[in-house]
Amino acid sequence: GPDEGESAAAKEHPTGKQGVSADDWEKVKLEDEVPEAVKQPGRMTHSRHTSRADAAIPKTPTIKEDPEPSTSSGQNQGTAKEQIVTPFDVEGGVDADGKEIGIDYDKLTKRFGASVISQELLDRFERVTGQKPHPLLRRGTFYSHREFNLILDRYEKGQPFYLYTGRGPSSDSMHMGHLIPFMFTAYLQRVFNVPLVIQLTDDEKYLLERDIKKQAEIMKKIKGKKPIDLLRHYKRLGQENLKDIIACGFIPEKTFIFSDLSHVGGAFYENIVLMAKTITQSQSRNVFGFSESDNVGMFHFAAVQATPSFCNSFPQIFGTRDDIPALIPCAIDQDPYFLLTRDAADRLGYKKPALLHSKFLPALQGPGTKMSASKENTAIFMTDEPKKIAKKMKSAFSGGGATQEDHKLNGGNPDVDIAYQYLSFFEEDDSKMERLANEYRAGTLSTSEMKQACIEKLQEVVAEFQKNRAAVTEEHLKYYQDATRKIDPRPKPKEDA
Ligand code: TYM
Ligand code: TRP
Repeated sequence: GPDEGESAAAKEHPTGKQGVSADDWEKVKLEDEVPEAVKQPGRMTHSRHTSRADAAIPKTPTIKEDPEPSTSSGQNQGTAKEQIVTPFDVEGGVDADGKEIGIDYDKLTKRFGASVISQELLDRFERVTGQKPHPLLRRGTFYSHREFNLILDRYEKGQPFYLYTGRGPSSDSMHMGHLIPFMFTAYLQRVFNVPLVIQLTDDEKYLLERDIKKQAEIMKKIKGKKPIDLLRHYKRLGQENLKDIIACGFIPEKTFIFSDLSHVGGAFYENIVLMAKTITQSQSRNVFGFSESDNVGMFHFAAVQATPSFCNSFPQIFGTRDDIPALIPCAIDQDPYFLLTRDAADRLGYKKPALLHSKFLPALQGPGTKMSASKENTAIFMTDEPKKIAKKMKSAFSGGGATQEDHKLNGGNPDVDIAYQYLSFFEEDDSKMERLANEYRAGTLSTSEMKQACIEKLQEVVAEFQKNRAAVTEEHLKYYQDATRKIDPRPKPKEDA
């Protein structure tokens, strides 16, 4: 590796005393030149960060207290249901009257033992980076974290760290919810100017799909005969999704994207094995809700998703160093994987990854659950035509009054209104958001006007995305997935983006 012979003294003390300075990286080989042909296909303009006066920021939906967890999970009328959030399933809670009460995010964070992002932490982010926090941070979409403060410490001292995120390719096209972590990660990469690794968990999606009927449908469509045909189907979806991911605009020379099925071996597999040995069946069961009848691949897969959190899994970036932590942006559903990872890190003598968690872009049907690629009617896909977006939005759940009269009289509730919620994920103009919310509450802005504002914004975001995606070539795919390409791990002062 490029940095063999790094002295043990350069390693950080497990108790947090950190002794690596930016200078230690002078010896490291610079990243390979980016060939002209793979220059970034374009950056989403709505992710160009501009600071602007911070007009009143619209409030995130207020979430009511969960009901007392019910003792029976039966179908009796009047049965309250506890919310479910795992990487495989997201369902909001239901109260004793059978009313959906959405997802209680604060409760989730508490249960997972993470911390809510405070205003102080945001202020510190701004002081340390000189950048105004992204709207997704200011508005509380990225609302929870684990040890993000330690990452800011490192940034302040010029010490290296890297970003890690991923995608499980369950559909041909990503949906608008998937855009959230990738757009946000692209923003963080520009702010921090650090390496980024992106894992395509094509293996996970094969292991996870246990619905016989659904598998049969896919096999019919792809004219598959044996299980390996289905496996390769997910591998192919991963390559399709890769184009979506590249279209989000990362720094090419600092980004490595890999498919588990294609890449795993070498140093990466060593860490998978180390990690797998730290996870017991009962831990896996508690954290993911697996049962006796779940396949052993799913039990083991946690080790695969944990592995990119350890820097020595990527010798082309970090050589043999094992003391550089990752920062992982993801929606809160992925946290269980990283709970296990952080738990194992100490035992393996590795650094714990830090995390930034987001809320979900809700389903079209309402704020109770997330937009999900495997439930097609919940989602707006990045391949949707402008007309289709308009059509889907027109039947989306609305927080408006029951009738036009009622709306004019009593106003609507933007906090549960899907059009307003989607806007708050994609519209950068804070004063526009405030105006829409106020007028909606007052009843002077109608449901169809709110939907129209949302449709226009989504059409704009999707059109720009489609333009970027169309510019992605085979060369890009090769370039980003080339594990022999050297990446410079050193933190560098950012040139202004
Ligand atoms: P996947 O493909 O289910 O989701 C990819 C990323 O998108 C987030 N996400 C959402 N965010 C906001 N609103 C939504 N409606 C929504 N739906 C999904 C997910 O939380 C995730 O961040 N096992 C992972 C792949 C993976 C990964 C990782 C993800 C591997 N390593 C590291 C995050 C970080 C998966 O199947 O993601
Ligand atoms: N200009 C914003 C940025 O700094 C645009 C943006 C991206 C945005 N994602 C958003 C605005 C979500 C509101 C909500 O990147």
